[in-house]
Amino acid sequence: MLPKINPTNTQAWLLLRKHYEDEMSRKHMKDLFAQDPERFEKFSLRLEEIVFDYSKNIINSKTLQLLLQLADDCQVYDAIHDMFAGLKINETEQRSVLHTALRNFSDMPILVDGKDVMPSVQKVLAHMKSFCAKIHSGEWKGFTGKPIKYIVNIGIGGSDLGPVMVTEALKPYWVEGIQTYFVSNVDATHIAETLKKVTADETLFLVASKTFTTQETMTNAHTARNWFLETATDEAHIAKHFAALSTNEKAVTAFGIDKANMFEFWDWVGGRYSLWSAIGLSIALTIGYDHFEQLLKGAYTVDEHFRKEKGAKNIPVLMALLGIWYTNFFGAQSEAILPYDQYLHRFAAYFQQGNMESNGKSVDRSGNSVDYATGPVIWGEPGTNGQHAFYQLIHQGTLIIPCDFIAPAISHNPIGDHHNKLLSNFFAQTEALMNGKSENEVRVELMKAGKSDDEIKKLMKFKVFDGNRPTNSFLLKQITPYSLGSLIALYEHKIFVQGVIWNIFSFDQWGVELGKQLAGQILPELENEDTITSHDSSTNGLINLYKKFRA
Ligand code: F6P
Repeated sequence: MLPKINPTNTQAWLLLRKHYEDEMSRKHMKDLFAQDPERFEKFSLRLEEIVFDYSKNIINSKTLQLLLQLADDCQVYDAIHDMFAGLKINETEQRSVLHTALRNFSDMPILVDGKDVMPSVQKVLAHMKSFCAKIHSGEWKGFTGKPIKYIVNIGIGGSDLGPVMVTEALKPYWVEGIQTYFVSNVDATHIAETLKKVTADETLFLVASKTFTTQETMTNAHTARNWFLETATDEAHIAKHFAALSTNEKAVTAFGIDKANMFEFWDWVGGRYSLWSAIGLSIALTIGYDHFEQLLKGAYTVDEHFRKEKGAKNIPVLMALLGIWYTNFFGAQSEAILPYDQYLHRFAAYFQQGNMESNGKSVDRSGNSVDYATGPVIWGEPGTNGQHAFYQLIHQGTLIIPCDFIAPAISHNPIGDHHNKLLSNFFAQTEALMNGKSENEVRVELMKAGKSDDEIKKLMKFKVFDGNRPTNSFLLKQITPYSLGSLIALYEHKIFVQGVIWNIFSFDQWGVELGKQLAGQILPELENEDTITSHDSSTNGLINLYKKFRA
């Protein structure tokens, strides 16, 4: 079981607080770089074709040593062991946390309740592989005898965001002749606009839901089913056009999906960690099974790294500790993820759920309210678009926002000098955020522009900025299924380590339940014209006006 240690009571925490107050709160990274020409070598790591440069952080060797002591004091390495070993570390749901089993390419058995889960994992992967082969070869035919051309994945949250992010990130790998769409929102517009793009006899619907009870997904799935039957007319044809990705066999068969078309996964796979499971079928169908396997292998490499490396050699542990350094000692409330790769445009959105649903908790593992900050707000957009939107605040605003910059060295679209221009911005931004601009630099710049002393004096205050804004840089050789798998796994494990140190349960999500319950109570109230009085005056007022407007 995970330890129940209040991190603020550890020796490392107290030392970190003192170290921050006495030393680091007054340090500028510019000086740290000037004092140490080896800083990049000291504070960067390479894992195969991913370079993680964390030198542009407000840290020195002592900070690192104390942060690593914090990991030790909070028994992070035991927790890592327990997760991989299949212990029921998701205590509030009494479940193991084993997304790592889904990409376990070793011969090691992984036991849940004394039973090795690997044969079941391999069985489902084999099913996915043979299914992909049938779809891609055209052997699988729709009800009019045509092969499948369109995949429509219907799911939400973890049953949507991962496959959306990965298929977008790996667009250069899409199988020719297959077009994939994702429907998640219960807003009918989402499914209506998607159905306009597909034909019933050439479409395969994947109903992706761990529980197979989620309102949005089931509503969209029924709408898709009705739409399909308008053309196909015979319910027997559903078998060729609907598959389910779920843990809930009973609900799948009750919906009318053939058991043979069900791709199973298990309660030890968290929704937001499920793209490696049957939930990844939309990925495998879109980029091909072999590429999907590469994605899993990339993640496996990171799993091995995470499991075996200790201290300053462990990238996810470092990522987590740096986040904690800013959240808990500098008071940062958000982190930005800024990929300099258009294909990664959903990466930040994906890890919004990954981080915020996992570590958006305020009760510790002993059931007490925490009196320290936990998960930050995660957000971000691809560079360079973000530069022309919100970077101003990151550079000169009053908030400290640690940023992750991610870029590939090789573009999938090497056209003209686009990539050098893109990467020049990637390098320039972290440099600018670190250095800022001094009075002297502004003076020289304005003098060169021919400004008078008076004008220089007036502008000076606005053009100077402090810098000292922390960033991590991830430089990848190229975005491939393998490197993407690795990158995702690094972030997953970062979340885990942070949850362990913050002494919270990262694998449940009780907070999202209340809204679901209330929506369930309100829905019948919207199905008649009665005046509603059962809520507070705001909710009653809004519901009653809604009824008036729609009448
Ligand atoms: O938003 C809550 C949540 O339970 C997520 O954790 C999950 O990814 C999503 O709903 C979808 O759940 P399901 O896959 O069961 O439809």
